[in-house]
Amino acid sequence: MIDKTSPIPIYYQLESYIKNQLNAGILKPGDSIPSEREYAESYEISRMTVRQAINSLVNEGLLYRRKGSGTYVAEKKIEQPLQGLTSFTEDMIKRGLTPTSHLIHLKIVQANSFVAGELHISEADPVYEIKRIRLADGEPMALETNYISAHLVNGLTKEVVSASIYAYMEQELGLLIAHAHQSIESVKASAEDENFLKIKRGHPMLYIQRNTYLQDGTPLELVKSIYRGDRYKFNIQMNRLR
Ligand code: GLP
Repeated sequence: MIDKTSPIPIYYQLESYIKNQLNAGILKPGDSIPSEREYAESYEISRMTVRQAINSLVNEGLLYRRKGSGTYVAEKKIEQPLQGLTSFTEDMIKRGLTPTSHLIHLKIVQANSFVAGELHISEADPVYEIKRIRLADGEPMALETNYISAHLVNGLTKEVVSASIYAYMEQELGLLIAHAHQSIESVKASAEDENFLKIKRGHPMLYIQRNTYLQDGTPLELVKSIYRGDRYKFNIQMNRLR
């Protein structure tokens, strides 16, 4: 599998070989991979070369290192297209994962100036503040805080928000959710993320803000979310702009 006469760099050949094993399921999430020394001896290549291949796979998030223990296969990332407005519940079901939520709090608060501005309501107007840990097959994926005008939406109970808020708003209230604006930024995991998402402080995370609108243009929700950077990958189809 390593061809030393090939113009393709050896580290890249090894990297591709390991990637194929990951794709074929020969190496599964949680498996430990052979040590640098084992790869080096098996393929008669230098440890430096092996390290280069493994570093590249670690940087891509396909493998991770555990201090003093070795290198392991990471869990598969959730690939999320950026086109199309969907809910967390829909996204997980589509992937064959079971979505659940741990409700941290559901309360009605007075909109601060930022929330009021985003929702086009007056400062101090009542808004639902819903903070939930979103899980896939029991594993925490994101920490989300929704702000929804209490004048627009009513009946948000603990039971409702522990399931899909979009399903409730569309199916029970008949609201026409139409479009959203979303921004994605990288941030480091905070103490709160560490606590709720069982992620080490400082780990790379994605801060996602979504402003969702109804068909008539009324702002429906402002959502501030922290998604696990090690488990999410966003895809977008792009057309050449001229
Ligand atoms: C995603 C979005 C949120 C949205 C939520 C609704 O997680 N990032 O902005 O509020 O979906 O999900 P559900 O209907 O499952 O409560």
